[in-house]
Amino acid sequence: MTADSQEQVKALQNAGRMVRQVFEQMKAAAKPGVTTAELDAIAIRIFEQVGAQSAPQLFYEFPGATCISVNEEAAHGIPGSRRLRDGDMLNIDVSAKYQGVVADMGESFVVGRGRRAQQRICDAVRKAVTKAIAEIKPGRSLNVIGQTVQKVADKMGYQIVENLGSHGVGETIHEEPSYIPLDNPRETRRLTEGLVLTVEPFFTTGPAWVDEASDGWTLKVPRGELVAQFEQTVIVNRNGPIVVTSG
Ligand code: CO
Ligand code: CO
Repeated sequence: MTADSQEQVKALQNAGRMVRQVFEQMKAAAKPGVTTAELDAIAIRIFEQVGAQSAPQLFYEFPGATCISVNEEAAHGIPGSRRLRDGDMLNIDVSAKYQGVVADMGESFVVGRGRRAQQRICDAVRKAVTKAIAEIKPGRSLNVIGQTVQKVADKMGYQIVENLGSHGVGETIHEEPSYIPLDNPRETRRLTEGLVLTVEPFFTTGPAWVDEASDGWTLKVPRGELVAQFEQTVIVNRNGPIVVTSG
């Protein structure tokens, strides 16, 4: 969507703050021994309390309120009976419709004591997103995002997952501009004032493609490979990007 009124910007900020709070509570509860369904229950409770709707449920009939992906699972992991273990890498992606608009955020982090390689890929993808957001200005090519993200991935020695990436958001969960996550010199679309989009690359040590698991939802990298995502929802603004899901 394009946010062209103060009310729309405010609503997006409120939705962004709400999904961030849900994420932070889930992250704080993500300890060894806890199941992913127990984490999802935190989101279900808060969504009910504030009158929000889970976006993946609303738009895709996803079998969970949030997407919780463990280790080789890159995205769209279904909350369930899996118990977290010390050193698991976890991705929690929270998106919801609240006050008429949708905000979307996600982060990968390590449960308990992780390996250095796990922390490194989480830090790298966060850095790529922070750098890409700083490049967002009305009038610039949409490609500044893919270009910036790819520079960081190349420098740090990671692949970018090609079949997952940033997207327009606001009215629904996935809308125009849908876009390729990599540097694409042929990109002709531009960032326009008020445009609402996510910045969410997935870095991996494995192949640049994730495959769907037999559950029909979960997207995975091969066993033993690392994958990490960092996602924010941003409004393009002439006075500087407005990150509605920042902490
Ligand atoms: Co997203
Ligand atoms: Co998301």
